[in-house]
Amino acid sequence: MKKRTIVKKKHTFVQIFDIEMIVCRTREEITNAVAEVRKANRSLGFVPTMGALHQGHISLVTRSIEENDCTAVSIFVNPTQFNNKNDLLTYPRTVEADLALLENAGVDIAFVPTIEAIYPEGLENVTESYDFGAIGAVMEGAARPGHFNGVGIVVHRLFDLIPADKGYFGMKDFQQIAIIREMVRQSNINIEIIPCPIVREEDGLALSSRNTRLNAEQRVQAVQISQTLFKAVDLVASSTVAEVKAFVENTVNNVPLLEVEYFEVVNGYTMQPISSWDEAEWVVGCITVNVGDVRLIDNIALKNI
Ligand code: PAF
Repeated sequence: MKKRTIVKKKHTFVQIFDIEMIVCRTREEITNAVAEVRKANRSLGFVPTMGALHQGHISLVTRSIEENDCTAVSIFVNPTQFNNKNDLLTYPRTVEADLALLENAGVDIAFVPTIEAIYPEGLENVTESYDFGAIGAVMEGAARPGHFNGVGIVVHRLFDLIPADKGYFGMKDFQQIAIIREMVRQSNINIEIIPCPIVREEDGLALSSRNTRLNAEQRVQAVQISQTLFKAVDLVASSTVAEVKAFVENTVNNVPLLEVEYFEVVNGYTMQPISSWDEAEWVVGCITVNVGDVRLIDNIALKNI
């Protein structure tokens, strides 16, 4: 096999495949690629994504590369987790740029499946149904019916195709991590879930693929979401939970282009809303804000363990 020039830091996987990054599109291709990794006794980290990659995703990739011999990344805009058709249609898709970013970052395997590779039975015949109990009944679970079921289904199927040692997820989707941990527990999947810190723009806005859909004015005002959360942290010592909630809701709603969908102050383990600070050791403020038709989420630790 002809050896390609290696331009970036490369690691063990190159010696297995003799190429820079392999791109798999079918079930067979990804199964063979993962089998090669396992045959060579390499550890495998996996970063599932929906593409439109930014530095938040790259931070997950970098962490995986640091902690594993090989890293796989999937890019798949999963239809079953979109409860809103327009959100699915307008979700940014930048696959070629994503692949270049991943190759540059030192990823070994990119999995860019077709819909059929993930849902061979046809989308209309997908039947799995998860019961995530109380953790799935609040916040995103309440606001987006079926969303977490779709996340559970696709992540389970991806973990089946890419049985990695560790899976990396960003803490911006705070509740999603609890859901994935619960799916892994219920399904007895042998993988360690690694939550990774939110990456923010210099002005504080949490990085999100959806940020690219904001116009200039919306982008300027969106910074008030994180800025308000930062101020809320300073209020905790002198305020009740209800006062912090009112502060965040009113401050963000006073910004003309922002509309709070919910702001909940929750136990970081159970996702259940609390009403006094001593109800939980780990307290997180989770917010969803509509900026025009762009839905942004963010969160902040209000009390740490
Ligand atoms: O967080 C995401 O990008 C998606 O929900 C995930 C985990 C890749 C499943 O489609």
